[in-house]
Amino acid sequence: MEVVIVARPEDAAPIVADAYTRLLARTPSAVLGLATGSTPLGVYRELIRRHQQEGLSFAQVTTFNLDEYVGLPAGHPELYRTFIEREFTSHVDLDPARVHGPDGLAEDLLAAAADYERAIADAGGIDIQILGIGADGHLAFNMPGSSLVSRTRLKTLTRKTREDNARFFDGDISQVPKHCLTQGLGTIMESRHAIMLGFGRNKAQAVAEAVEGGVSAHWPASILQMHPHATVVVDEDAASQLRLTNYYIDTFNGKPDWQGI
Ligand code: F6R
Repeated sequence: MEVVIVARPEDAAPIVADAYTRLLARTPSAVLGLATGSTPLGVYRELIRRHQQEGLSFAQVTTFNLDEYVGLPAGHPELYRTFIEREFTSHVDLDPARVHGPDGLAEDLLAAAADYERAIADAGGIDIQILGIGADGHLAFNMPGSSLVSRTRLKTLTRKTREDNARFFDGDISQVPKHCLTQGLGTIMESRHAIMLGFGRNKAQAVAEAVEGGVSAHWPASILQMHPHATVVVDEDAASQLRLTNYYIDTFNGKPDWQGI
């Protein structure tokens, strides 16, 4: 696991966007796993900028969202499908038919989850999976206690996650769905490169547990310690409870330019 500590959240975007630029130069038909929430927005904006100003093309790319609320009506602004289109995919040359998300309105949610797993596998698996982290250590919507080998499935959101996300629903927790479909931790572990971002002091404990604590379902993001290519990019606030900080900084500063994250 590589840990990159940046001074401010906005400093993370070019470092992470470079990983996409290198991937797309190698594999124009790459498969990207996309997260919602506030954390990845800077990266999406930088990718859009590179598309508009530097010709970075997503024309052959396929995407898979990490998760989706169950029961929000089509077109709802907080539907993760709508969110990803609004914040990223509609601003680049991605074919909308290649933008996928779990179907939180499916009549048979369990079948929809199984179909989603199959679709990811049929596309060849995910090349870069971008991830945020919950203050309680959740990864995608794998809440504390999630099986470390779980696949895409139906989950119940914790009250804390619903409280945190109420800011997107006029501050009204009663509007935040109670259930979701989410890629499992086992699904995420099959991505070829997992990049987890964490910003702000409220993520500091979760980041420390995920990076330096024991691997435990209690802190689902800690499963990334078992990932063969995981990069954690955090700002100084989110890194404030890490212990090996100097080592992480020395390692990143000592890398040759060609290596990337
Ligand atoms: C989003 C997701 C969640 C968020 C996490 C952090 O698709 O799966 O795990 O990444 O809740 O959310 P923000 O980025 O809003 O702090």
